[in-house]
Amino acid sequence: MAGAEVSKSEVVGREEDLATVRGFLADIERLPSAVFVEGEAGIGKTTLWRAGAAAAEELGYLVLSTRPAEAESRISYAALSDLLGSVIDRAVVELPPPQRGALEVALLLRDAEGRVPDQGAIAFGVLGALRAVADMPVLVAVDDAPRIDRHLRNGDRRRQDERPDEGRREPRSRDHL
Ligand SMILES: Nc1ncnc2c1ncn2[C@@H]1O[C@H](COP(=O)(O)OP(=O)(O)O)[C@@H](O)[C@H]1O
Ligand SMILES: [Mg+2]
Repeated sequence: MAGAEVSKSEVVGREEDLATVRGFLADIERLPSAVFVEGEAGIGKTTLWRAGAAAAEELGYLVLSTRPAEAESRISYAALSDLLGSVIDRAVVELPPPQRGALEVALLLRDAEGRVPDQGAIAFGVLGALRAVADMPVLVAVDDAPRIDRHLRNGDRRRQDERPDEGRREPRSRDHL
């Protein structure tokens, strides 16, 4: 369960969509913001998502990505583990201990010692972790957002009510980049 593969693959056509994604990525002043990609299966959402993530890397973004598999939707914080896995060490080092502890327990990096991690502490920990690595623009790229595990989704409910899917600086998709 490493971060998602976001290697560049050939995209045929889709110039308008790619331009939208690139324009979104280039508009750093507008951060934080989100782009969502929606459509039927097979229409090319993942292809666009990959191209968007590759474009973000070229633009100097730190790309944190996940492509949760169906089975992972039942695993607590599986997507969060993908998203933060590559940066977790430096992301948590300066977090307040309750947030760091809760986040590390949620990501199975630390023994829970019989206590269920507090959702609020995890949420603040995630925010703090993202801020800690945001010395460059950060793209949180999620492909197949409905497969995000329910723990992470529940924590994200307020944002989902505000906009149909999730994200922050990225091509959105029911796949969302
Ligand atoms: N613009 C495109 N250029 C090249 N191949 C594409 C393009 N859009 C889709 N495909 C191909 O079509 C198939 C389905 O696309 P995919 O991105 O997985 O769709 P979705 O994520 O919407 O289900 C994949 O094999 C993909 O490589
Ligand atoms: Mg797809």
